[in-house]
Amino acid sequence: SVLEMEVEQIKKGNYDHFMQKEIHEQPHSLTTTMRGRLRDKSVVLGGLKDHLKTIRHSRRIIFVGCGTSYNAALAARPFLEELSGIPVTMELASDLLDRKGPIYREDTAVFVSQSGETADTLLALEYALSNGALCVGITNTVGSTLARKTHCGVHINAGCEIGVASTKAYTSQIVVITIMALAIGADSISTQSRRESIINSLSDLPDKVREVLRLDNEMKDLAESLMQMQSLLVFGRGYNYATALEGALKVKEVALMHSEGMLAGEMKHGPLALVDETLPIIVIATRDACFSQQQSVIQQLHARKGRLIVMCSSGDAASVCSGGSCRLIEVPLVADCLQPVINIIPLQLLAYHLTVLRGYDVDQPRNLAKSVTTQ
Ligand code: G6P
Repeated sequence: SVLEMEVEQIKKGNYDHFMQKEIHEQPHSLTTTMRGRLRDKSVVLGGLKDHLKTIRHSRRIIFVGCGTSYNAALAARPFLEELSGIPVTMELASDLLDRKGPIYREDTAVFVSQSGETADTLLALEYALSNGALCVGITNTVGSTLARKTHCGVHINAGCEIGVASTKAYTSQIVVITIMALAIGADSISTQSRRESIINSLSDLPDKVREVLRLDNEMKDLAESLMQMQSLLVFGRGYNYATALEGALKVKEVALMHSEGMLAGEMKHGPLALVDETLPIIVIATRDACFSQQQSVIQQLHARKGRLIVMCSSGDAASVCSGGSCRLIEVPLVADCLQPVINIIPLQLLAYHLTVLRGYDVDQPRNLAKSVTTQ
């Protein structure tokens, strides 16, 4: 009805689409996510504090999720491993169910779901509960089935997300799992200074997100140059392997363009065969411990005349793009484990603009639902 359409427009404010609004809302949603949870040198997560001891003594931490929620857990995994010293494994909910993978009482299973109602994730939760694991929920939806059925958990407090393609929930999920890692690691003296530096970077994060959002026009420009393409590859590694998967997921979900995120370390084991002068490839090469490996990936792609778009830290153009031509996306540098929060944003903007330019429905991509409540 006309009234419903007007209400929709009011909720969108100055934006054309919910996805666009939610991308630009991230400085705010991240602030809400962190509210009350950061102290000077420590973190507070009310929903977890009585279970931290059990988690610290678990033999393994297993992340379970689908789609973007899985990718968020993957992005935060290296930091959780570093701070907890516990093996952290990843499970797509449907695959865990297909395999009936072993889960034990000594495991902590962390279920990540924006809606808290995804059928695959909830079935995996039932399965983990029946195997006696400690079950932790990370969701954006208070009162959801996931929130009710887990033993404990954390709400991401990103605010209602309406666009089918998840954007602000993704960055808030990464931040919450990072804070969870800080809480789990809080009993260790040897990581104290590392933890304090990450807590400081968390406080700065909304400002850095505001900064990276200024790339909007540049991403629109890039989208114009890519809109006719058949396919787009995204290479990442380390903290930003998840960024490659999630960037490609956004492009296929909403822009309906074939796109694959790949682990850069696997490039020479197959994907390299795809490289030619036409296929566009985004390489994520912001500064972290994997930087020199990414520099050599770029060299190899140049050698095969690949059509490169390199995401690098601001001021790093010369170090990433010597010996070939490439288009650059320069992003602000933050702490290594938080860089995925920054790096996904230009790719969200790119997917958004590609969708609009290609004339597809941004907020309701064909064949997809916001919450998949059937198996
Ligand atoms: C659906 C949505 C995705 C989402 C996934 C998991 O497939 O289209 O955007 O990432 O479900 O949803 P959840 O609510 O469990 O995070």
